[in-house]
Parts: sequence; C-alpha cells; structure tokens
Amino acid sequence: MTKAPNRKFRVQPGGSLSGNFDIPGDKSISHRSIMLGSLAEGKTEVSGFLEGADSLATLAAFRDMGVQITDPVNGALTIEGVGLHGLKPAQKALDVGNSGTSMRLLAGILSGQSFDSVLTGDHSLSKRPMSRVAAPLSLMGARVDTDAGGTPPLKIQGGKNLVGIEYPMPMASAQVKSCLLLAGLYAQGETAVIEPGVTRDHTERMLRAFGVDVITEDSRASLKSGQSLKATKIQVPADISSATFFMVAAAIAKDSEVCLRRVGINPTRDGVIHILRLMGADIQLQNQRLLGDEPVADIVVRSSPLQGIDIPKELVPLAIDEFPAVFIAAACASGTTRLTGAEELRVKETDRIQVMANGLKVFGIKTKVLNDGIEITGGLIKGGKVDSCGDHRTAMSFAIAGLRSQKPIEILDCDNVATSFPNFVELAVKAGLSVEEV
Ligand code: S3P
Repeated sequence: MTKAPNRKFRVQPGGSLSGNFDIPGDKSISHRSIMLGSLAEGKTEVSGFLEGADSLATLAAFRDMGVQITDPVNGALTIEGVGLHGLKPAQKALDVGNSGTSMRLLAGILSGQSFDSVLTGDHSLSKRPMSRVAAPLSLMGARVDTDAGGTPPLKIQGGKNLVGIEYPMPMASAQVKSCLLLAGLYAQGETAVIEPGVTRDHTERMLRAFGVDVITEDSRASLKSGQSLKATKIQVPADISSATFFMVAAAIAKDSEVCLRRVGINPTRDGVIHILRLMGADIQLQNQRLLGDEPVADIVVRSSPLQGIDIPKELVPLAIDEFPAVFIAAACASGTTRLTGAEELRVKETDRIQVMANGLKVFGIKTKVLNDGIEITGGLIKGGKVDSCGDHRTAMSFAIAGLRSQKPIEILDCDNVATSFPNFVELAVKAGLSVEEV
C-alpha cells in the first residue's frame, strides 16, 4: 500500500479567537446512528450527522450490504432499517478507510451474520491492533481471521452460532465494548463486558433509544439476545473532540472568547473539560440540556493563563482523543504537565505520543516521552515544519499552536482532517486563526 503525498497546512503566528460556532456532529454517535438505524425495523431519521470520511465510510459499508440510506443533506438523512437479519452480503471487501470505529464495531455485527465478509482499511488502519476484538469474538464462537500480527484485513465467517460471554476487557476501550455488545444481539443468552476504566457509553445509550434493554451496573454492561431494534429519531450533538481544538485555541490565544454551541458533554467524554479547568482554563457550560439521549451544552471559553498539572489517571479514558490538543495547552502552560496511563495513545491513527513529541521538539518545547505518556514543560513555541503523520488530530493540534508561535508553522500530511472535521480550516479562519491549506 503506497501513500500519496497530500495537503499541508500553513499557519501564520499569532491571532485572537472570537465568535459563536457550530462544530460538526459527533463522530462516534454518527457511526452508531448508521449501524443501529440499519439493524432496526422501520425508518430512522438522523440529524446532525457528521459528513466526514470516517462516518461516511460506515454509511457506505451499510449501503454495500443492501441498506437504503439517503445522501446526507446538512447532516440530515434517513435509513430504511432492514432488521437484525436483513443485511445482504457485500459484493466486495468493505473498505472503511481510516476508521477504527467502523472496523471494530462492524466486526461485532458481521460475526452474527449468515454470510462471510472482509473488512479492509487504509495504510494507518492496516497497522492497528484488531486482536482486541478478534479474540473475544472467537470466545463467543465467531471466526475472525486477522493478518499476522493481529492487523487488518479482517476475514469474518458467517453462519456461526454465537454464544454470550462475560468478558473482562484488558484495556479501557469503547470500541471493544461496543463490538461485543453488538455481537451479543446475535448471541445465545447474555453478553456482558466489564471495563477496567470508564469508556464512552454512546452504544448503550443509543441501543436503549432503539428499545434494547442494556443493563449497566458499575463497570459491567450487558444485554440479552432476542431483542429487536425499533426505528427512532437520532439527533447527533456537536463533537466534543472537534470542539476541543477551539477550546484549547481560545484558552491559549490572547484576548479570546468563543462559544461552541450544542456540544456533547456526555460524562464519559468530558475529561478534557476537567483537565483544562485543572490547568486553569476559563470554561463555562451554558444552557445544559438533553438532545435525545445525550447531554449537550454551549461551551464558552476565554483566554486564561494555564499551569502544568499531573493529569489524573481516571480522566485518561474520558479524554483519550483529546490529548494531542491538551499537549499544545501543556506547551503553553507554565511548569510541567505529566500524563501517564495513556499507552492507548500509541495505537491510535498514529502513535500520538511520539508524533506529538516530535512536533513539540521542532517547536522548541521540552518533552520527556514515557512508555505510557509524556511530560511536557511549557515554553516559547518557535514554529517550524512538523509532520502530522496523516493523523487528523495531530494535524489540527499543531495548527492551533500557531496562535502562540513566534514564526510560521507548516504541517505535513493533513488530508485526514476530513475524517472528523471537514470544515476545520474554514471555521478556524472564521474564528481568527491564520491557517491555509496548500
Ligand atoms: C471510539 C472509541 C475510542 C476513541 C475513538 C472512537 C468509539 O477508541 O479513541 O476515536 O467511537 O467508540 P477506544 O475505544 O479504542 O479507546
């Protein structure tokens, strides 16, 4: 698999942020809306859907399996659900591009089908660990073959009789939990997952919205098979992971104030708010309300001096996607920020600890890389040329560092920003960041 060279970001130093913004829809919830809407009986209406490459890959996969889904228009789409047993075999391998969530959650659903399937992905996804889903699925009686090393493609045999298991997860992963609960819809008896740390609960919430009885007791989530999904309306909140770039940007830039509307603040996802507040950020949650089954708020962030902290370990899974941006906050803070217990960052779209450390080094920021985290000592950001290594979140994090940089910043390999935040540059420019795509 070769990698074509792609777009760069160029960022001019300085600037202040202001304005009210609608951040695109939540990626995790968008994936799940397509999956559950497809497996439901009846027509599901979705609004606020993220029209990013990752969630569109999930949409395309279900179309390939015979589900009628309208083209999203400003985030609105409808899905003609085919029921738990109505999917048809795809004519070819399902290519989910850069999207780990698509691959891992689909592995659970496809294990319960009567037909065989193959899941493939791009260069980055082809290097990511899949044994974490293949192993427990095989304990349920599924047959999921990976490449040597436990990586994609996944070859999934259909026609297996799955049985429910109780699975203590070795890592805190919502993708593994969701994969097994979705497979559990097809398994005999009860399927239960026990998590070692709190992870996002969007699957449990949305399954309940579709009428499935999911039981959550402390760290154990379970469901029994024999339940069907009934179509519903899903309103997708704005993605707190995408909002994070604007939260950090407004906190570190001078004289800034932004309001980010209707952002999901699910307590299993809000770690970044706690972390930034512990660092001294001025963040207010206004107009807190429920959007369907998910809590949302308008988030107001103003500039404020930040201090380095030891990031509490229990917040790590609650902020797992936000660390690249938090590292930029740490680079702008006084003193040292220390993150541990975050080895999962090494197996994201890139090794986010190493890629961010490499970029921060170019910027002249002192870091110490740990196996499971990093120490970052705040300082002056010099600017320079950094490589996102094709990871959307590292690319956007390096971009906001421009607000505190002395010289321009050039960021390589930025195409994948479109996986989660297709209009990032447009919104960032509107807010006051001098960034252009070249
Ligand atoms: C996701 C779960 C997280 C997160 C990913 C999306 C999900 O991964 O990093 O971006 O939608 O379930 P893990 O569950 O593997 O930590």
